[in-house]
Parts: sequence; structure tokens; C-alpha cells
Amino acid sequence: MQSGSSFVFSSKSIHYNRISFFNIKMQRLHFLLIHSIFLFFLFASSVVTAQQRQSNISLGTSLRPTTNSSWPSISKLYAFGFYPRGNGYAVGIFLAGIPEKTVVWTANRDDPPLPSNTTLLLSTEGKLVLQSAQGQGTDIANQNFVSASSASMLDSGNFVLYNSSGGIIWQSFDYPTDTILPTQRLQAGNELFPSVSETDPSTGKFRLKMQRDGNLVQYPKNTDDTAPYAYYASGTDGQGDNVTLNLGVDGHLYLLNTSGVNIKNITKGYPTGGVLYLMRVDWDGIFRLYSHNLRPNGKWSVLWESSKNKCAPPGLCGVNSYCVLNDQKPDCKCLPGFASVNQSNQTSGCERDFIAESCSNGHGPVKFKIQPLENTLWEDVSYFDLSETTKEDCQQACLADCNCEAALFKSDDSTCRMQRLPLRFGRRDLGSGSKTFAFIKVGNASSDSNNVPGEEKKYLGTSLIITLSCVFGASTFVVLATCGIFIHRYQAWSYKRIPGNGNFRLCEDVAPISFTFAEIEKLTDGFKEEIGRGSSGIVYKGTMMRCNKFVAVKKLDKALAEGEREFLTEIKVIGRTHHKNLVCLLGYSFDGPNKVLVYEYMSNGSLANLLFTPEKQFNWIERIGIARDIARGILYLHDECQTQIIHCDIKPHNVLMDESGCTKIADFGLAKLLKPDQTNTFTSIRGTRGYVAPEWHQNLPITVKADVYSFGVVLLEIICCRRCMDQNFPDDQVVLEDWVYQCFDGGELRQLVGNEEIDLKQLERMVKVALWCIVDEPSLRPSMKKVLLMLEGTVDIPIPPSPTSFLTCI
Ligand SMILES: *[C@@H]1O[C@H](CO)[C@@H](O)[C@H](O)[C@H]1NC(C)=O
Ligand SMILES: *[C@@H]1O[C@H](CO)[C@@H](O)[C@H](O)[C@H]1NC(C)=O
Ligand SMILES: *[C@@H]1O[C@H](CO)[C@@H](O)[C@H](O)[C@H]1NC(C)=O
Repeated sequence: MQSGSSFVFSSKSIHYNRISFFNIKMQRLHFLLIHSIFLFFLFASSVVTAQQRQSNISLGTSLRPTTNSSWPSISKLYAFGFYPRGNGYAVGIFLAGIPEKTVVWTANRDDPPLPSNTTLLLSTEGKLVLQSAQGQGTDIANQNFVSASSASMLDSGNFVLYNSSGGIIWQSFDYPTDTILPTQRLQAGNELFPSVSETDPSTGKFRLKMQRDGNLVQYPKNTDDTAPYAYYASGTDGQGDNVTLNLGVDGHLYLLNTSGVNIKNITKGYPTGGVLYLMRVDWDGIFRLYSHNLRPNGKWSVLWESSKNKCAPPGLCGVNSYCVLNDQKPDCKCLPGFASVNQSNQTSGCERDFIAESCSNGHGPVKFKIQPLENTLWEDVSYFDLSETTKEDCQQACLADCNCEAALFKSDDSTCRMQRLPLRFGRRDLGSGSKTFAFIKVGNASSDSNNVPGEEKKYLGTSLIITLSCVFGASTFVVLATCGIFIHRYQAWSYKRIPGNGNFRLCEDVAPISFTFAEIEKLTDGFKEEIGRGSSGIVYKGTMMRCNKFVAVKKLDKALAEGEREFLTEIKVIGRTHHKNLVCLLGYSFDGPNKVLVYEYMSNGSLANLLFTPEKQFNWIERIGIARDIARGILYLHDECQTQIIHCDIKPHNVLMDESGCTKIADFGLAKLLKPDQTNTFTSIRGTRGYVAPEWHQNLPITVKADVYSFGVVLLEIICCRRCMDQNFPDDQVVLEDWVYQCFDGGELRQLVGNEEIDLKQLERMVKVALWCIVDEPSLRPSMKKVLLMLEGTVDIPIPPSPTSFLTCI
């Protein structure tokens, strides 16, 4: 049998099949027939004796892709070792005993294919490692520094490492990739990720999560665990925090709660005996139960699938395209006015079929119109909502707003949700009662068909004229076209934290309301409850009787820089900035002894309060999200709103959290509103000590890069959960930026986060971004747009220089 099996593995022509289980190569049938009969008996007998007999792989044993390439289980049904992948090999577990060498587990699946001179070694030190020809080692199993004494490929398909007393120190069943085998479990908190495609085992677009709330749910890969993204759910939430997904040897797929009680049958049990079952999340996002008869001519068949609708998984089609079923097959269609990015790859997404030079109107002919698209579903990440509106008003509102590139209108609640590109997760909405319309802003000359010929593109490209309210419209569009997808991801992060309505509705009166001072007094009950104190004034809590909502009322204690007219102009500018990550200005009062600004109320207080209070601290993932949210807010102020706004005072005290934990920047626009205090040189600097860029001290012109600097300091604080200046630390750690640079330079970044469990690569990326933001020379600092791209990891970050100045945090 040993020789028979090595024949199988050295023969490259054997088909290692990941997905389409159904192609049996005819010329090999006679061999397979004999093989399968043999296996059937083997399998049947091995079930009985599996406990006593197991393969024993001892230390010092190795495998090579081309010669001795795998360790089979006793029954030879499964094997652990090399299998062909792309133009090289991968290490994994596959069904060696059936004609289609179905892969059920892959080690380090996102690594590139391995060259044929790689060695897989169970070393004499008890480590399972891959060794390249140059001698570099890559771990296959996360052994946590425990040495193995032996290893075994079990007949269940589980590959196990044992310690000297026979205890299991690592097993592949604990680290499933896309497949669950009989007797394997998906533990609470764990996820399965499908492959990219039939031939590429890297992590694909979707995930199946066994949630800690007891619910088994499918989502696209990079989203929050929230209902709007879910496309399959077992509906077992609230059943305890340790529910597991189990597969029986009879193909019975079920959920057990903490005490081992069956709380849900996903499938029934099927006949056993010579039949193999497995469950897998397929690359198309649907998870299926398969069976394979071990008799001759046996083949894979689907017994059950999580959805019959192949368009159900959101994101099957790329951005700006949507999935429609064509004869049960999914088909990706571009939005009107868009064309496919890659004609030969349906799921690559779509881009505008003309170059949008500006946001329209005014002097020249109107360059945009709206094209409706009925009954499609999209990700809802609006930057602004209009309620109680009509379809017509929704279209008009989108046309009139430079930032709006599409609007989603739901006729059942008459809301118009304005969005930027790209639109994600598009799919036709079959049969749901609610009527939804997507209104897409397209170039006026764009034809109704999806493809616009080249001449038309040129015509549009050369003739668009800049105007309307959006001063930065042109750049906004270009920015959005290029980096919109990344921004989009960040917006997705904050989704969880923003319930449908919430504070946003308060902002629907687009312009801030003017209050009399008497009204303000009533609102705050005579300035009774102080909730904060800042550089520009004291903040009180108030209640808007009209809608029974809390507001934050800021009494400005500084003299105003300009007269009433300028004040009102500035208020208008601030009032017109609408962004999820900016605190909304609801109103103002310019009458009476004090100038007052009325903001939406942020019930969770400031980031400073949350970040520097150990009990309230955020975890790493949340902190990354907060950093991105802040960056998005600043990017909007710098690049995307009507008038460029330099905040001048970015610091954790000016970053607030609302009741759902959404991060918002406060006090933007105040820098222009308030007269700088001339009495002392230090406070003439508008920013706050520790966060101010060196150019403030050097009498140099202040640009948006000053905000980038402050953001860098805040980012360091977010990474390390401490203040940029803290005397409680040892001398060399008092100034955060120096300490961080030391750690970075010395390759000891782990020190920064103590024993918190984090992704070190991500940590390094965050630190590099922060260090670039705080370089002395403003022109070397990245723009906020660049910062966002770097935070996401989509662009490479060069090694940052030392922040040479010690001026900034003393
Ligand atoms: C595997 O083999 C080693 C030495 O060859 C032996 O010490 C060990 O007990 C064996 N383990 C099992 C589980 O048979
Ligand atoms: C699941 O099916 C088994 C029989 O296969 C049955 O005994 C059990 O009650 C079912 N559980 C639920 C929650 O329906
Ligand atoms: C387009 O897609 C095909 C198929 O996926 C791929 O081979 C090709 O490289 C892609 N072309 C471009 C320009 O990305």
C-alpha cells in the first residue's frame, strides 16, 4: 500500500480538486475502481480499529514535494503533506483515498505557493516546520513553544502533534480553514473562510462565524458582525456563549449549547457505512454539506446548502456592480454609467465610464443626471439621510450635493440615504416587499446602456466645468474614484456603532438653527449641568424639548475674531459640514452676553476620558477603528467639504463618542471663529500643548499638515493607551514619541502594548504611519488621504525618519 500511495502522490496528473467535485478523468477510471473497492473495505475496517491503530510520525522525519510527499493515515483515506498549488505546492490535509484529491485543510493558506525544493520537517527539537532551500523556517503549527514528541495523521482527517506523555499539543481540527469533517467542531468565536477560487486556497471573500451569542452567521469578510451584513443565520442567538457547530459521521450538522444539548439541527442524519461527509464554505460564499460514496464510481454530491440563491452572499460581485440570477447562475451587472474594470473577470467590479471632472452645473450645461435602478440591495453607509422625502426630492437632493454619488431611497420609510462611491454588496432584491430604488448620479451624456463608447468619454472628459457649492468637488471626485473603496471599508467599521437613526436625525435641518439667548437658557435649565470644559469655553447639557433629545451647549468665553457677519459665515460653513465622524452643529446663539454653539450630544464623552482610564479601555481592533474614524473626519475637513477647514486642535479631548460608540471630531472650525489670545506667546498657539506641530512655534504658515501632525500624536496615544507626555513613566518613556521611536528603531514594538494580544504587523504599520505624521518638516508628512491608505495597509509604508524635534511634547 505504501508504494501504491507514493505512486499516487508522485503522479502530478492526479487531480487535486478543491471545489468541483464532479470531474473524474476517464482514463484513470480502471485504476480508481480497484482503488476505491480496496478503500471501501479499508475504511469500513478502520472505523472499528481507529482507536488502537494510528500512524506514528517520529521526530526527524521529513517530506519533499516531489519524492516522499505526504504522511497518510492508517486507512490511507487522508494524508498530510504537500499537494500541488498553482505553479508550486502547498502543505495541507487532503482526501488521498478518493480520486479527486479533495483538500480539506491548508497550512498558511495565504502564503504564496512553495517551490519544489521545500522540506516539511518534524524536527528533532519537536517543531513542525517548512524549510526553504536557503534554510529559512516557517511554522506550520502554532505550538506555543511546546515541543512535540510525535505526530499522527488520524483516520478522522485530524493531524495531531503529541507531547511526551501522549497529550495533544496541537491539532488541525482546532484550526479549520473552510471545511469541517465528521467529529470536528467549530468552536464559539471561530470562523471558517472559503477559498478565493476553485484553484486558489487563499482566504476568500466571505466567512461563517460561530458567534459567542450562539448564532451561526455568514457575512462578507471585512464587515462587522451586524444584521445588515448577515446573509445566513441559524437563529440561535441567546443560547449561551459557548455554542459549537458539529458534524456527525452520518452527515448530521447541528449546534450544541454549553451543556451539550442539541439546540438546532441544520441537517438531518444520513445513512452511514462507506459514505464520507464533509461541510465546506465554498468560494461562492454558500456553505454546503457534501457526501461521497466510497464505492467504485462514487462521487461528491450536495446534500444541503445554506442558500439556493447564489446571489445571496453580498460582495460576490465587485464594487459598483450587482448580482442577478441568470438561470440560477450568478451574473454581475454594472451600475448604469459604469463599465467593468476587467472585461474578462466578471467579479472585478465596475468603474465610471467617463472621467468626472467636477461636480457640475452653474455656468455650463448641467453635467449630471440621475439614473434609477429598482429593487437592488446595497450596503447602507450613507453620509447623510433625509427623512420623510419623496423619490423626486431624493434625486434632486443628490444632484444638488457634490458629495452625493448615489442615493438609496426606501419607499416604505421614505428615507433618502445619500452615499459616496463605491457601492458595495449589490444584489437584486428578490421578492422582499419593500420597494427600494438606487439613484445613481451619472454623466449627462452617459447613455442608458452600461457601456459608453470612447468618443463619449472624451467629450465628457473635456467639457465638464467646475462650479456649484463644492469648491473641492473636482478633487473629491478624483479622490473618491481612486480611494473610495478604502474609505468605504472604514465606513463599514463604524456601521455597528451607528443605529439606523440616532443622533443623525437631529441634523436633518441642514442649516444650524438660530436661537435666542432666552431659548438657550431654557434649553440648559439656566446652564445647570456642566459636562465639560475646553480651551474655548464651558459645555453644558441641554434638552431640545421639541424632539426630546439631549444637546451639548458650548458657551464661548473668548472674544470672537470678527464681527457678526463673519461669525454667521463661519457658522454656515461649519453647519454645512456633514460627516459621520464630525460632531454635528445644530444651532447657535449670537444674542446676549455670550456666543453659544449647540451641538449634538455625545453621551460617551471624550476619547481622552476613555483612552486614559484603564477600566474603560478599548481593545486593539476598536482602537484601529477609532484611529480610522478620526482620520476620515479630518480627511473630510481637509479635502471633501465645501471650504477647506484646518482643525488646528486635534487631540483626544476633541474626539467624542456617541451613545453607540461612534467616533466624532468636535470643535472643528473654531480656530477661525475665535480671536487668538495675544497675551502670552505660548497660548497664542491655537492648538494644545503636546499636540501642536513645530511650525506653530516657528512662525511658519499653518497648513493642513499641522492637523496631520496632531493626528500622529493622537494615533500614538491610541496605539499605546497613554498620554503623549506622562511623568509616571521611567525617564526614557516620559515623552511618548521618543519612546515609540526607540522601540521602533530597536525592533521592540511589542513593549508598547504590554501583553495585549495584537497583530504585530498591524502594530508596526500603525506606528510607522504615526511616525510619518509627526516628522518635523510639514511637506514630508503624508496627506490625510495617504494616511488613510497607509492605515488600511493598501500602500507600502517606507521606514519613517526619526522625529528629530524634542520641542513638541515638553
Ligand atoms: C511513536 O513512536 C515513538 C518512538 O518510535 C514511541 O516512543 C511512541 O510511543 C509512539 N507513539 C505512539 C502514539 O504510538
Ligand atoms: C435533532 O435531531 C435529533 C434526531 O436526529 C432529535 O433527537 C433532536 O431532538 C433534534 N433536535 C432539535 C433541537 O430539533
Ligand atoms: C482580468 O482578469 C483575468 C481573469 O481573472 C486575469 O487573468 C487578468 O490578469 C485580469 N486583467 C487585468 C488587467 O487585471
